Amino acid sequence: MRVASFVGQKGGVGKSALARVLAVAAARKGRKTLIADFDREQLTCVEWAGRRKRAGRKPDVEAREFKTLKKLRKNVDGYDVVVVDTRGHADELTKDVADESDVVFLPTSASLDDLGPTLDLARRLARHGIADRIVIVLSRVGRSERLLDNAARVIEEAGFEALQVHWPQRDGFQGDLDDGLAGSEASNPHLRQSAKALEDALLARLGGK
Ligand SMILES: Nc1ncnc2c1ncn2[C@@H]1O[C@H](COP(=O)(O)OP(=O)(O)OP(=O)(O)O)[C@@H](O)[C@H]1O
Ligand SMILES: [Mg+2]
Repeated sequence: MRVASFVGQKGGVGKSALARVLAVAAARKGRKTLIADFDREQLTCVEWAGRRKRAGRKPDVEAREFKTLKKLRKNVDGYDVVVVDTRGHADELTKDVADESDVVFLPTSASLDDLGPTLDLARRLARHGIADRIVIVLSRVGRSERLLDNAARVIEEAGFEALQVHWPQRDGFQGDLDDGLAGSEASNPHLRQSAKALEDALLARLGGK
């Protein structure tokens, strides 16, 4: 079993979106996948999984609410992939979730407003000896190459790994999430292609079979 978590200091940066993108990608590979939704106030992934089920989308992606890691540990038997979504604002649970993950994705926009707190969290997590599992993902990004290059440079200078593929901000991706879809399930071929590249990068970093 492989565990990927999406954590962050900032709200609204795409944690729950990317958790769903990775979960769908893993499920499409035939890996039995669970989204563990620790954002108990919003339950974004649980709500989405409900919409997905009602719309009859395949493959099924299971998402369940969890309050504690202890509870999660007791319920992961038989899963190949567990994707953990957490709430904005890092807390004690963020560190514990990161400790138990094979890879810890930190989505952030390309702005210094978001990158600063994200890199601060990355440094705090790295102190627990998990620096090599931390991957920063540029998320909900616009079309400016200059801003993206600048963000990539800031991440590199901070000594952290950046996922080489970004998650672009597009109305189509938002509409798909509303419809119980994610990532490369997009109907638009351009969106599908860029999501596919992202999924492959997330899956490669997750590892496993
Ligand atoms: N690539 C994208 N293009 C357009 N909209 C997106 C994209 N990714 C996410 N969104 C939308 O942006 C909003 C924030 O994304 P999301 O909920 O994934 O962020 P989050 O980091 O989980 O937020 P929170 O901290 O509140 O949990 C949501 O309305 C989501 O549907
Ligand atoms: Mg969320």
